[in-house]
Amino acid sequence: MEQQLDTAQWYRTFAGHTRGHSQDYERLCSAIADDQTILTLLAELPQPRRQPNLLLASVRYHQGPVHDVPRFRDWLVEHWPQVRTTMLQRRTQTNEVGRCATLLPVLAALPQPLALIEVGASAGLCLYPDRYSYRYHGDLHTELGPTHSPVVLDCTVAGRPPLPDSPPRVAWRAGIDLNPLDVTSPDDITWLECLVWPGQPERLRTLNAAVSVARAQPPTLWSGDLNTGIQDLLRRVPTGATPVVMHTAVLAYLDRGARERFATTMREFDGYWISNESPSVFPEINAHAPAAPTEAETFLMAVNGTPVAFTAPHGQRMDWFADHHPAAL
Ligand SMILES: C[S@@+](CC[C@H](N)C(=O)[O-])C[C@H]1O[C@@H](n2cnc3c(N)ncnc32)[C@H](O)[C@@H]1O
Repeated sequence: MEQQLDTAQWYRTFAGHTRGHSQDYERLCSAIADDQTILTLLAELPQPRRQPNLLLASVRYHQGPVHDVPRFRDWLVEHWPQVRTTMLQRRTQTNEVGRCATLLPVLAALPQPLALIEVGASAGLCLYPDRYSYRYHGDLHTELGPTHSPVVLDCTVAGRPPLPDSPPRVAWRAGIDLNPLDVTSPDDITWLECLVWPGQPERLRTLNAAVSVARAQPPTLWSGDLNTGIQDLLRRVPTGATPVVMHTAVLAYLDRGARERFATTMREFDGYWISNESPSVFPEINAHAPAAPTEAETFLMAVNGTPVAFTAPHGQRMDWFADHHPAAL
């Protein structure tokens, strides 16, 4: 992350993000923020590796306890060398398939079929929006998608997004990631499971269901940096399909220069660019969005640099404010 956060403050902020979602993580992160011993251990790591979710997932990867603060603390101090190694080797690569529910109205509104490219794809689970089912509630109500899909995504809608009758048609799909995870590797799936916060059995169930969908036809995922690989991927788009490049919860990991390089490539490319990131990632896009509707953490979704909606980071809510049809942007 570009932002150089004070580690204690980082854990305090993350405790706030997990409030109401994971009691265990809220309790642990609040305690870590005031624990000099743990903060001193974390200081051994490069700053970006001190990330709360990386620490907690690494502890769970080694089957450490996360339900009780004193037991967690004693275990961590004793097993720090193992946890440290995992924190240096692994990345926070949470593959949150729920985000497909907020991407779907845009994807389905574009000229079909699509050639879908995801940058920062993790295991590529968001590359299958056509194979999941959706239930929208709130200002608009609809259900769509294959009835037999093991993945059913719920999303509360405010405003009037162009909800379709059926999912998009995906003619071709591919992704790129610094470290693509393999849906056929039990170890990679264990890591993805550890990245889901405790106390969220529904997210875990959805993750495993999405893995079963992806395993039926594993995605094409390239290993590399998104700025280096994007042009090669774009060259492979088959004719007759609309090129779409999308990313969710990725660009915050790049420094400002790398984000700008990517945005420039996207502004010059002849297709659709869907960005679903924290509003602070592209301040120049955020400048054209209304005030965020909630104090809670939110993402801003934009199509070709025009903001269209605020979205909940795990795809459970969407506040649509755009007047224009996404295909016209
Ligand atoms: C938080 S995960 C999000 C994964 C997926 N987009 C989703 O929403 O479920 C961020 C992903 O971006 C990848 N990533 C970070 N920086 C990258 C870069 N410069 N090039 C390619 N991938 C990158 C990470 O490896 C990780 O898999």
